[in-house]
Amino acid sequence: MATSFTGSVTFAFLLSFLFSCFIFTSTEAYDPLDPSGNITIKWDVISWTADGYVAVVTMYNFQQYRHIQAPGWTLGWAWAKKEVIWSMMGGQTTEQGDCSKFKASPPHCCKRDPTVVDLLPGTPYNQQIANCCKGGVLNSWAQDPATAISSFQVSVGLSGTTNKTVKLPRNFTLKAPGPGYTCGPARIVRPTKFVTSDKRRITQALMTWNVTCTYSQFLAQKTPSCCVSLSSFYNDTLVNCPTCTCGCQNKTASGSCVDPNSPHLASAVASSGKASNTPLVQCTSHMCPIRVHWHVKVNYKEYWRVKITVTNFNYRMNYTQWNLVVQHPNFDNVTQLFSFNYKPLTPYEGLNDTGMLWGLQFYNDLLASAGEFGNVQSELLFRKDASTFTFDKGWAFPRRIYFNGDNCVMPPPDAYPWLPNATTKLMSSLLSTAISALVSLVILLANL
Ligand SMILES: *[C@@H]1O[C@H](CO)[C@@H](O)[C@H](O)[C@H]1NC(C)=O
Ligand SMILES: *[C@@H]1O[C@H](CO)[C@@H](O)[C@H](O)[C@H]1NC(C)=O
Ligand SMILES: *[C@@H]1O[C@H](CO)[C@@H](O)[C@H](O)[C@H]1NC(C)=O
Ligand SMILES: *[C@@H]1O[C@H](CO)[C@@H](O)[C@H](O)[C@H]1NC(C)=O
Ligand SMILES: *[C@@H]1O[C@H](CO)[C@@H](O)[C@H](O)[C@H]1NC(C)=O
Ligand SMILES: *[C@@H]1O[C@H](CO)[C@@H](O)[C@H](O)[C@H]1NC(C)=O
Ligand SMILES: *[C@@H]1O[C@H](CO)[C@@H](O)[C@H](O)[C@H]1NC(C)=O
Ligand SMILES: *[C@@H]1O[C@H](CO)[C@@H](O)[C@H](O)[C@H]1NC(C)=O
Ligand SMILES: *[C@@H]1O[C@H](CO)[C@@H](O)[C@H](O)[C@H]1NC(C)=O
Ligand SMILES: *[C@@H]1O[C@H](CO)[C@@H](O)[C@H](O)[C@H]1NC(C)=O
Repeated sequence: MATSFTGSVTFAFLLSFLFSCFIFTSTEAYDPLDPSGNITIKWDVISWTADGYVAVVTMYNFQQYRHIQAPGWTLGWAWAKKEVIWSMMGGQTTEQGDCSKFKASPPHCCKRDPTVVDLLPGTPYNQQIANCCKGGVLNSWAQDPATAISSFQVSVGLSGTTNKTVKLPRNFTLKAPGPGYTCGPARIVRPTKFVTSDKRRITQALMTWNVTCTYSQFLAQKTPSCCVSLSSFYNDTLVNCPTCTCGCQNKTASGSCVDPNSPHLASAVASSGKASNTPLVQCTSHMCPIRVHWHVKVNYKEYWRVKITVTNFNYRMNYTQWNLVVQHPNFDNVTQLFSFNYKPLTPYEGLNDTGMLWGLQFYNDLLASAGEFGNVQSELLFRKDASTFTFDKGWAFPRRIYFNGDNCVMPPPDAYPWLPNATTKLMSSLLSTAISALVSLVILLANL
């Protein structure tokens, strides 16, 4: 059982790898490298009030490598009845709505479908609660679970009526701040237990419900935002990102890319306005904001060394808390990693071919905008496993790379740098890989 599961998983990887070589987009809502990745939003009712309740709303970013960076998340929902938000702590709604029927002290928000944002750092202490006030920034779970949590508190009421029947809010929407997340319905779960700070008493929420939101690159409707280029010590060819991966210079509207030598560069970057989310990229053949370069650098007797360089071509974006996910069969024996953090990702038992890399705090955790400092680099030392290691057949190149959770487009495998004199061998090996994939597919179907 276990082996056949692993086998079909390996096969799934092989197929998706083959596919991703030819088709750019990763459209699955389901991410094979983070199968249970989700953002869970938990509402804990902590007290009843005369006309409603006070709840602490906590968002947990359980995604291993997808974070939410500035300008942060927005969370919306629709009230089931005529609820209003009397007051909030650690967050605020973007609009108050029509509170004209309230004479004395108007509520914080009277909209049927409120939209909440986090408060900014530096908010006065008397408006804060734990885990709030980070401008909506949520780290990823693998990078730092402690900062992958965000909270606010709402005091909900039914305008003075005393109907204690809680109706769960509906139609949750989570934006980051763009589209991409889909949220399920709220479900009542076992009430959360809270341990007091002296650990001598446990209290519990009066009522708890959870909402789960998942990400899909397809829903985000992003064109690719990242591509991979390759080179090696054994071949002079530098295989660049496929042309027009993220756009074409000729097709895109004028002004969408700038020449770094252009005298208008400074004014183009300045005029863009910092709030703008559309990238302003340096003109390249691929037009991607991010390029990841994988260079097979040195061959030792028992080890081999790779240099990874991530380059930012976007003049409008500093990537904070950036991360890379890299899939390569030798990750089970990565021996040393310079100047990046590393964590193995093992979504499937027995498969240890994926690693997550991110910057060291205060050193290279910020990938600065395009220009002189817009790149970060690392070297990886792998221990050779005699039974699998080879420079042949493009084996030394990564199978898959994500930047900030988005799939990076790889060059087609027939363009990979070849070992000298390996031409015919490579062609036949590619062919045989394709054939074996087809054979496995037939076997798989036959087994169903
Ligand atoms: C959300 O993620 C957590 C942590 O990985 C997991 O335990 C939970 O099952 C996930 N929920 C769903 C609905 O996938
Ligand atoms: C409370 O609200 C529920 C659902 O809206 C309704 O069925 C019930 O009659 C209400 N009770 C009172 C006392 O208003
Ligand atoms: C939630 O969304 C559905 C479908 O879009 C809609 O029919 C329903 O009225 C919405 N519910 C509320 C309370 O807005
Ligand atoms: C609800 O969410 C909390 C926090 O993420 C989690 O600990 C709990 O297991 C969830 N409950 C269910 C039933 O998913
Ligand atoms: C399109 O752009 C490419 C790359 O910049 C350039 O070589 C080519 O001449 C352009 N073609 C046209 C028709 O402008
Ligand atoms: C990126 O960060 C630098 C240094 O903090 C800052 O000067 C620059 O304005 C930032 N650029 C953008 C596009 O936010
Ligand atoms: C995966 O490989 C890494 C690097 O050798 C190792 O540190 C880690 O313990 C391995 N994890 C599993 C689950 O085998
Ligand atoms: C790492 O390489 C050594 C030497 O080749 C090998 O014995 C060992 O099994 C490898 N470790 C893993 C987890 O594959
Ligand atoms: C280097 O690789 C390219 C394929 O990217 C191939 O066309 C070329 O022949 C190789 N060079 C040598 C010296 O083998
Ligand atoms: C293959 O290698 C031999 C000697 O090692 C060399 O003479 C020949 O030119 C090479 N052929 C190609 C196509 O690189």
